[in-house]
Amino acid sequence: MHPMLNTAIKAARRAGSIINRAAQNIDILTVTQKAANDYVTEVDREAERTIIRIIHETYPNHSILAEESGASGNSEYVWIIDPLDGTTNFVHGFQHYAVSVALSHKGVLSQAVIYDPIRNELFTATRGRGAYLNDHRMRVSKRSSLQGCLLGTGFPFKEFDSIDNYLAMFRDLAQKTSGIRRAGAATLDLAYVAAGRLDGFWEYGLSPWDMAAGSLLITEAGGLVGDFLGNGTHMESGNLVAGNPKLFSQLIQSLAPYLNDKLKK
Ligand code: IPD
Ligand code: CA
Ligand code: CA
Repeated sequence: MHPMLNTAIKAARRAGSIINRAAQNIDILTVTQKAANDYVTEVDREAERTIIRIIHETYPNHSILAEESGASGNSEYVWIIDPLDGTTNFVHGFQHYAVSVALSHKGVLSQAVIYDPIRNELFTATRGRGAYLNDHRMRVSKRSSLQGCLLGTGFPFKEFDSIDNYLAMFRDLAQKTSGIRRAGAATLDLAYVAAGRLDGFWEYGLSPWDMAAGSLLITEAGGLVGDFLGNGTHMESGNLVAGNPKLFSQLIQSLAPYLNDKLKK
């Protein structure tokens, strides 16, 4: 195993233990609102501090881009961290959330870990070496048409200026597929696309830490990830479509009639 992946796994598992311990006492959590419908708890912060400490024990000069503490350092290695993805689920005791740790080197994603501490599922990838769920190789699904597919998505919850466009996309895809799930943790949605549990996914307004690890998992599992036009700017735009190669192009085609200027990237 690549030593940097090993560090990412150690950090994600340690954060997962913190989250599992805190989940036993969610009644005493202090929840702070960062913006409308955007929450953080002391668990997010403690998990993030722990992840960064473990990374810096081995790689003291590497840069960090983390949801709660922001960007630091000027190395060509950047660790992109979501210490607790699905905070709203977590504070409600809705048991679906994860830790996400990715490493980018010179702007190219090279290592990825998404850890589900409830199910003890560890999704990992190293560029060029495939993607794994625990010890098993992962592959995206083989479905070749939208009919019969199960899609994941994220409903708009803080940026509502494109909600009508989003609802039109939803109406269209709800009629073409077997179903659409909104489970509340984008990192796990992407890990599930990589594992073939979801055939595809789309959401707008994501942050780099929601997308980094999942993007590498999906491409290493044989899938495609892009923005709403099918190009590679999703890490910048926050608009992400993912799926197996056949579905990816069908998703892009289905979304095309409903794009406004903000979503055309
Ligand atoms: C959120 C979750 C959610 C997605 C949001 C994210 P957070 O992350 O991934 O599923 O719809 O866009 O911001 O705030 O729980 O880390
Ligand atoms: Ca997140
Ligand atoms: Ca988070």
